[in-house]
Amino acid sequence: MTQNSIGVAVIGGGMAGRAHAAGYRMASTLFGTERPDVRLVAIADTNQAVADDTAKRYGYERAEYSWQAIAEADDIDAVSVVVANHLHREIVEGLLAAGKNVLCEKPLAGSIADAESMVAAASKAQGIASVGYTYRRSPAVQAIANELEAGRLGDIVHFDGRYRADYSLDPTGPMTWRYRGGQGTGALADVGSHLLDLAEYVAGPIVEVRGAQFSTVITERPVPVGVTYGHTKAETTGEMAAVENEDIATFTVQFAGGFVGTFSASRVSHCNPDGLSFDVFGTKGSASWALERASEFHISTTDIDDTVNGRRQVIIGPQHPYIQGGLPMDAGGVGHGKAEFFAYQARAFLDQIAGISGLPELPDFAHGLRGMQIVAAIAESAAGNGIAVKI
Ligand SMILES: NC(=O)c1ccc[n+]([C@@H]2O[C@H](COP(=O)([O-])OP(=O)(O)OC[C@H]3O[C@@H](n4cnc5c(N)ncnc54)[C@H](O)[C@@H]3O)[C@@H](O)[C@H]2O)c1
Repeated sequence: MTQNSIGVAVIGGGMAGRAHAAGYRMASTLFGTERPDVRLVAIADTNQAVADDTAKRYGYERAEYSWQAIAEADDIDAVSVVVANHLHREIVEGLLAAGKNVLCEKPLAGSIADAESMVAAASKAQGIASVGYTYRRSPAVQAIANELEAGRLGDIVHFDGRYRADYSLDPTGPMTWRYRGGQGTGALADVGSHLLDLAEYVAGPIVEVRGAQFSTVITERPVPVGVTYGHTKAETTGEMAAVENEDIATFTVQFAGGFVGTFSASRVSHCNPDGLSFDVFGTKGSASWALERASEFHISTTDIDDTVNGRRQVIIGPQHPYIQGGLPMDAGGVGHGKAEFFAYQARAFLDQIAGISGLPELPDFAHGLRGMQIVAAIAESAAGNGIAVKI
């Protein structure tokens, strides 16, 4: 921190990098003005056009073309690392060694060995080392977690979650880093890792996985001519490359609370562009949330007369977490979505750096490693025809 301000940078100006860039931009509008100023310093990307475009679009002072330029910069305190998973380790360890505070995207790394190394590096670092599980920042998810915590839904009997995406259904979509890395690193690590984090955030620790099954629907993809980002189309060479990981993962789990969880993660679900949703059932009620209708949730409880009871829709408002003093119009029914989750996450990260308490802290690297260990256990179950694997 310099002169009561925090300089921020984002490494990787692609799909999620832009969400981080926008998140920091909005962070200064959230929850009061007594906090340190936020300086939007740099976007770094090895694709210069992407770096230039994202820096300009989101109002950052400059574009850089290497992560080393961020590590060496004196005017940068906080850095989001938003590049392909297998690149996280080198960049994050370099940033931590340079004394930066780091927010690394999920999954923490491309391999368990890399993640373990990053945990060790974080334990020696002065800066904060955190991992970006964005959906915990949903006001509705937090409201459901609060209801469960308060016991209004009774004891949980079943958690059912799904993350259905369709970004891989088109077989002409080019080969990218998302299709490399072996079984478990596909839909499961990419979108399923978010779902697993949400499940544990809401329902507590997972202790065993069972019955996992993977399916790869599109087994090879056209090789792009140049660099790609996000799920966009690209000019291709005419050659094909083998897809190394799963399009669909299904599995069940046992929670420490003694109840069962049922899950699926897919990147080939037609017309489900970003379909994260879950239901949690208790002895005295139930609750449901879906990203597509992010600013509402459904709940049923037994404290209402049977003749008028049922699953009811709750529209998020200032009585729920994150809204009051947060959104520019902090009233009920105004709506919000995924972009705000990145802004709340950015605010929480900056507050942690400034030593300001209030918002839930970001998960640390040990938590990121745990997420990868659960993914690895699911892959082991799938490789063993659904055997039970303890976490
Ligand atoms: N939290 C979320 O909701 C969310 C959503 C999407 C992706 N992600 C995560 O974000 C990360 C990036 O995913 P994405 O979809 O944005 O990827 P992407 O492919 O769209 O973008 C990655 C960018 O990194 C750049 N890059 C590659 N090597 C680099 C290097 N050495 N230094 C600097 N830049 C480099 C590429 O040019 C590209 O622009 C992944 O870890 C992914 O799992 C998180």
